[in-house]
Amino acid sequence: MRTSSQHGRWAQKEPAHERSSESDPAQRRGRSLRTCGNSGRTSAPERHPSPVVRTFFDEPTFTATHIVHDPATKAAAIVDSVMDFDEAAGRTSFESADRIIDYVKAEGLTVEWLLETHAHADHLSAAPYLQQKLGGALAIGEDIRSVQEVFGKIFNEGTEFARDGSQFDRLFADGDKFSLGGIPAIALHVPGHTPADMAYVIGDAAFIGDTLFMPDYGTARADFPGGDAHRLFRSIHRLLELPDETRLFLCHDYKAPNRDEFAWETTVRAERSSNVHVHEGVDEDAFVAMRTARDATLDMPRLILPSVQVNMRGGHLPEPESNGTRYLKLPLNLL
Ligand SMILES: [Fe+2]
Repeated sequence: MRTSSQHGRWAQKEPAHERSSESDPAQRRGRSLRTCGNSGRTSAPERHPSPVVRTFFDEPTFTATHIVHDPATKAAAIVDSVMDFDEAAGRTSFESADRIIDYVKAEGLTVEWLLETHAHADHLSAAPYLQQKLGGALAIGEDIRSVQEVFGKIFNEGTEFARDGSQFDRLFADGDKFSLGGIPAIALHVPGHTPADMAYVIGDAAFIGDTLFMPDYGTARADFPGGDAHRLFRSIHRLLELPDETRLFLCHDYKAPNRDEFAWETTVRAERSSNVHVHEGVDEDAFVAMRTARDATLDMPRLILPSVQVNMRGGHLPEPESNGTRYLKLPLNLL
């Protein structure tokens, strides 16, 4: 489905001071990132190890799940997995996740990480299922706690729903370093689409979630609760300061006018030169005006209510009620 919605009216606005580049830790970190990796756009970039990336594309939700591994050690991470969900029947299943498990086993990979770029509004995560079958630590950005606060209220969750991120094994802060086998990695906070979005840079590959899409399609929407087009613009520009050759792996693709194939990989160079929304020369005000106008035309994501209820729990379904059945709520006239 096409992610979309009309819910700009419940988008929470950030306090104005958070929009100052001097007070935004992401912006400060962006500068230091530039100086420690590629020290200037005209100089030769530092050589980064190159992990192997295999992508499984889920056409019902237009989601790209990436399995990235270090060829030397076979250590792997699974980024943004998808649980199959028939919303008409209320039935969950795992055929898509099982295909990932088959690939991981065939390649002899050891899963170290299950990385979520954010709490998705368009598909349910299969991370707990994959973790049970393959191991690995489930990780997301630390600001998932604010997402849990917002949606905990929307779904009128009781105190049994923890808003402290404890459903995850690791909460990444901006700039946190980790590794995939022998390949160094860093987590970057790239808010805007949601307040908690992260990008994971693993060697020369960056998994950037819902920020940039393919150059011919543009950018992610910024009208979800806690979303902010100004912050999205700044996050995108931080990603565009990565070395030109950095491979960018996207969370979604919806094709684009005049393109018949789905695509999910591009480069910093291509995005800088030709992204239809944020190519070089587009300033923040122009981007925000475009993004805000476009978001106002979009429909609600088909699976937003089931997705968020599950994903804010780290991909776990709500606890069964007294009859042993699990239920999802449908808040009326709220979104
Ligand atoms: Fe998203």
